[in-house]
Amino acid sequence: MIDRARRRFLDVLASIYIYNEHRGYSSIDRVLEAVYARHSSETWFIDAVEKHRRDERKHYLMFRHYFEQIGRMPYAVDRSCGHIDRLIYLTFGCGIDELDTDAVTADDELFFKLCRIIMITEIRGMNQLEVLLEDKLVTSDEQLKKIFEVIRIDEPSHWMPYRDWLLKNNGGDPKWNERAADWAVHKSLVLWKVPSLLLTPGLKRRTEWHDASDPPGPLLEAA
Ligand SMILES: [Fe+2]
Ligand SMILES: [Fe+2]
Repeated sequence: MIDRARRRFLDVLASIYIYNEHRGYSSIDRVLEAVYARHSSETWFIDAVEKHRRDERKHYLMFRHYFEQIGRMPYAVDRSCGHIDRLIYLTFGCGIDELDTDAVTADDELFFKLCRIIMITEIRGMNQLEVLLEDKLVTSDEQLKKIFEVIRIDEPSHWMPYRDWLLKNNGGDPKWNERAADWAVHKSLVLWKVPSLLLTPGLKRRTEWHDASDPPGPLLEAA
């Protein structure tokens, strides 16, 4: 009974993470499109964002490998568990997939906002890792602990380039409503979404991997 509850918790946690890692690199593709189009001479920033995308893809694959090893598919959690999904929805008024990349590319303020949202999400993720790596239940799973330790090493390099870019281009600090949205999304995930998934009877598992429907293209090939 205790073992089953532990397994359920770890599966829910890893399912939320793999979903978020996938959404992470999907949303970075939007940034890359805009940077390639508008700021092709800013090679330091392009290198940093490309590394960020590679890392998020790597994190996704680590969780995929984790599930493959335990012989289960992740739970079919949806965008209500996606930090970046919900933050983009609250600040841009649409989902990541509906984000108008041409508009973001053409409008500096929209691009700055997207950079601020990614930066906020990454800082939140970095702080959350400290909490998880202090948690006995999480660290009782050696494989999961190793994954979180790798992510912890990568995380600072994910938000610092956006901060530097915003500083260099007068893109502004995160606005109060962006910070408030981040706080609200985080609280609702931890206090409501995770407990409700743990208690949902017959929670379905995915039947295919998240990246099965990734669009083919040079960005993915470059990763
Ligand atoms: Fe990640
Ligand atoms: Fe990250």
